[in-house]
Amino acid sequence: MKILPLTKFMKEIEVPGDKSISHRALMLSSLSDAPVEIANCLRGADCLSTAACLSKLGAKIDFGKNVTVQPMPKSYILNPVNLDCGNSGTTLRLMLGLTAALKLPVTFTGDESLSRRPMGRVTKPLTMMGGKFTADKLPITVQTDKPLHGIIYTLPVASAQVKSAILLAGLFAEGKTTVIEKIPTRNHTENMLSAFGANIEVAGNEITIAPSKLTSPGKIVVPGDISSAAYWIVLGSILPGSRIVLKNVGVNPTRTGLIDVLRGMGAKIEFGNQKVSGGEISTDLTVYSSCLHGIEIAGEMIPRLIDEIPVLAVAAAFAEGTTKFAEVGELRVKESDRLAAILTQFNKICPAFEVEGDNLIVHGGRKKTFAACETFADHRMAMSLAIFGAAAEGVELDDTDCVKISYPNFFSNIHA
Ligand code: S3P
Repeated sequence: MKILPLTKFMKEIEVPGDKSISHRALMLSSLSDAPVEIANCLRGADCLSTAACLSKLGAKIDFGKNVTVQPMPKSYILNPVNLDCGNSGTTLRLMLGLTAALKLPVTFTGDESLSRRPMGRVTKPLTMMGGKFTADKLPITVQTDKPLHGIIYTLPVASAQVKSAILLAGLFAEGKTTVIEKIPTRNHTENMLSAFGANIEVAGNEITIAPSKLTSPGKIVVPGDISSAAYWIVLGSILPGSRIVLKNVGVNPTRTGLIDVLRGMGAKIEFGNQKVSGGEISTDLTVYSSCLHGIEIAGEMIPRLIDEIPVLAVAAAFAEGTTKFAEVGELRVKESDRLAAILTQFNKICPAFEVEGDNLIVHGGRKKTFAACETFADHRMAMSLAIFGAAAEGVELDDTDCVKISYPNFFSNIHA
């Protein structure tokens, strides 16, 4: 697909529902005591993978105007099952926690990318709880012979998926389970467990859960995904003369690193019309083009923008001066090796990107050219490259089908 250079971009865009929150809404609804209606649930391929896994375990999920979930029956698994998680790390890691207590074998599979990704970070604490797993990479079979028990676990990597897997297993474990976070990560699981009446307590950086009966909140409204809004926030900021309005975007503070960093670089992003639902805040955003300057991004900021680093690196290439992303080695184990993808592909458009150890350095203000680039079937690389090309001299992308993972109609906004 060819993306043509854009001049100014003036649009109002409604981004799809938040991927992280949609996964959790589908899972907790399937475990609850009565049906749940989910408004604005993402219909991207990752969430469809979660829905398919839950359906195989006995939930009834109907994708009508809203999504309705009839929970799994109490003895929810009767036969060995195979759960295909597709491309979705969140599906696999959270479902490993959700099924860790099961005695019948549950076998997880996924696509090539997911099969390369590390799962030991989840199977290790779940094994400490008494879970039994055949491997720490796909395919993995769960078959646990004894009841799970609670643990106290300090996360060695800042990962909301690992935290969430342990908390979900904690719902089925004897005693209390505590997760300690050295660096805070997205807290959607905690928020949603509270909305379903779970026995969960958050005290500073310690989250404790006890076995709980989940009660249906009736309806969940999923805010727009800030990780999808990120592409337009960056485009609006770097393309002279632009003004973009983004309706109903989730702005949970554990996810708004991109906005904080761009503002620190000189961007003009306004909030209006805030709403709160199920512990999640959303707002309309207005983004105006502005002159950006380089910045250093490190520490607690990284998990708050982990999925937005490729597109933020694009913004940095349009800024004046140098931008440094410190200690971002986690990017090597996302849907693709995103550090390698940035080096090999972004540098074709503009020779601005260097990797030193686990640090990503971007030199702003260098000349950009048209290039043919590979997306490595990674949705966030495809969308970041599209924004890069649109703001520069255009780009040709080999595989764009992958945007269906999180943002199926992304390209209709850039072309129209
Ligand atoms: C997610 C957590 C993050 C993020 C992923 C979604 C979640 O992964 O990169 O896209 O929904 O919990 P990690 O937990 O591996 O940091």
